[in-house]
Amino acid sequence: MSVAVHIEGLRRTFGARSVLGGLDLDIRRGEFVALLGASGTGKTTLLRILGALERPDAGTVLVPEARTIVFQEPRLVPSKRALGNVAVGLPRTAESRERGLRALAEVGLADHARAWPHTLSGGEAQRVALARALVREPDLLLLDEPFAALDALTRLRMQDLVADLVRTHRPAVLLVTHDVEEAIKLADRVAVLRDGRLVTDETVAAERPRDATDPAFTALRRRLLADLGVRENEPAVEAIEGGRR
Ligand SMILES: Nc1ncnc2c1ncn2[C@@H]1O[C@H](COP(=O)(O)OP(=O)(O)O)[C@@H](O)[C@H]1O
Ligand SMILES: [Mg+2]
Repeated sequence: MSVAVHIEGLRRTFGARSVLGGLDLDIRRGEFVALLGASGTGKTTLLRILGALERPDAGTVLVPEARTIVFQEPRLVPSKRALGNVAVGLPRTAESRERGLRALAEVGLADHARAWPHTLSGGEAQRVALARALVREPDLLLLDEPFAALDALTRLRMQDLVADLVRTHRPAVLLVTHDVEEAIKLADRVAVLRDGRLVTDETVAAERPRDATDPAFTALRRRLLADLGVRENEPAVEAIEGGRR
């Protein structure tokens, strides 16, 4: 079986509002798909359905049993140390402890195993969340804007870390992001969600590591921004209506 995720005709409505209106998406094993979409288009709803945190109203959703989600916030248990957070839910054995320590080492936090969550920086806490996701050896890794709350430099480091970890562990990945460059830098395929469906689904052909000044990169960025309704060379600001109330 080479397919990790199969979604067909997925629908989800909240009250009268149709958020996902017949969405189709397949992700192959080991494939990295980035999903772009404006705020409120249903990206989190889709990830929550794939994580079984939310139910679909209609459609087919096939996902691997071993799947984990990393959210925008680390969501660590404050009363557990870093290692305890990574190993949470695993059997309390020496082997789990070893696995937890290995996962922490992989995210560069070998010396933070005994640290409490409140003493960690935002980037460190998010790396603990990543270790907690990876220690389960998922076949599908769901990432919901995991770098959005981090400063720019930490975000770039986290992108490189995720690229390395994914190369080692080879899960299928669905990364939701606002950041077009991040999507092109990391993913094998980039999709855009609009009006409840995928309006774009493009393979990123460029060799890795990807160069943002490469003409193929900039052309793809321009197409994706257009699909998102943003024209380049114009400041991406919202029009604010003044005066009338
Ligand atoms: N549990 C819910 N109840 C009602 N409306 C919801 C619920 N979850 C999400 N929504 C609505 O669905 C839409 C899509 O939300 P979401 O999936 O969070 O979008 P995104 O992650 O793309 O910003 C939004 O309009 C949001 O208000
Ligand atoms: Mg969201």
